[in-house]
Amino acid sequence: MSNLRSVVKGVGGYLPDRIVTNEDLTATIDTSDEWIVARTGIRERRIVADGELTSSMAIEAAKRALADAELEAGDIDLIVLATSTPDQTFPATAVTIQAELGITEGAAFDVQAVCSGFVFALSTADNYLKSGQFKRALVVGAEAFSRILDWEDRSTCVLFGDGAGALVVEAQKPNGAFPERGVLATTLRSDGRYRDKLYVDGGPSSTGTVGHLRMDGPEVFRHAVTKISDVILETLQKAGYTPSDIDWFVPHQANKRILDGAARKLGLERERLVMTVDKHANTSAASIPLALMTACSDGRIKKGDLVLLEAMGGGFTWGALLIRW
Ligand code: ACO
Repeated sequence: MSNLRSVVKGVGGYLPDRIVTNEDLTATIDTSDEWIVARTGIRERRIVADGELTSSMAIEAAKRALADAELEAGDIDLIVLATSTPDQTFPATAVTIQAELGITEGAAFDVQAVCSGFVFALSTADNYLKSGQFKRALVVGAEAFSRILDWEDRSTCVLFGDGAGALVVEAQKPNGAFPERGVLATTLRSDGRYRDKLYVDGGPSSTGTVGHLRMDGPEVFRHAVTKISDVILETLQKAGYTPSDIDWFVPHQANKRILDGAARKLGLERERLVMTVDKHANTSAASIPLALMTACSDGRIKKGDLVLLEAMGGGFTWGALLIRW
């Protein structure tokens, strides 16, 4: 076993310009700001402009992450993109990012785990970096969920938004510093028995259409807090930590009530929870890197902090990742 560690070098994010508030939605569906805020904590979301793509948002986020890392695109030899809203059925949207950044070496591919996508993508990159197969990875979460929403279904369309976030991660040998930086532990889980609780009712091999998102919200909610808490405790245990050691809890931003519930169950102080769902809504695979970008740029997350990422989404898929930033 190599003793390489995947160390975060830079973070970047991109949000479309157009802001859609809860009030704006009341013009087309029977809903209210009060209902949406009380049930979800969401106040507004960003929506892509005509012609804006998952890849164009991802490329902007990737460029900002590279600038933050003080690296060039040519330094990257692995791109892993988490998305459920690719530009096309194939090729992978990751290769568009690769080409637009001018990278011709290494590998680029997409990972599909819906809202857990970023945790699955970062864990995948971490394993490649630790094995020594690649040196520097761009791990991106990007979604144009507005394009797969049924805008007449008030129980789902109010919940989601568009955006992209990216991390640059580098394989490093231990340098004797304590505590050692990098990804410390990961846990991934799936249980396909629940695949009909949150899904898209279309696809290349079934209907030949793109389809729309469908969700049994209360059922997802019922599973969320328990599954999230279990996987967090398992991940902390692997690395020899307890919830009280966490400096920043950066969960997938689905719903304020789920996040508050998970933090409460783990006994985490409210101040340690990074929350962006009010401004971004649920951006699926983009939500964690966007939350990381927010908390790094406002100075909350600093080098050396212990950061816990967690997500749950369609599949069901869920997982957690512990990083010494
Ligand atoms: N505005 C007003 N009323 C609404 C809306 C809306 N946008 N949507 C639903 N309602 C109504 C329903 O029709 C229902 O009315 P009824 O009682 O007359 O039948 C009532 O509100 C209650 O509906 P529920 O679905 O039971 O509401 P609930 O309290 O469960 O909240 C919600 C719904 C917010 C979707 C919740 O179930 C939830 O957050 N679930 C988790 C799902 C989630 O976050 N998914 C994201 C992806 S998965 C993940 O990332 C974890």
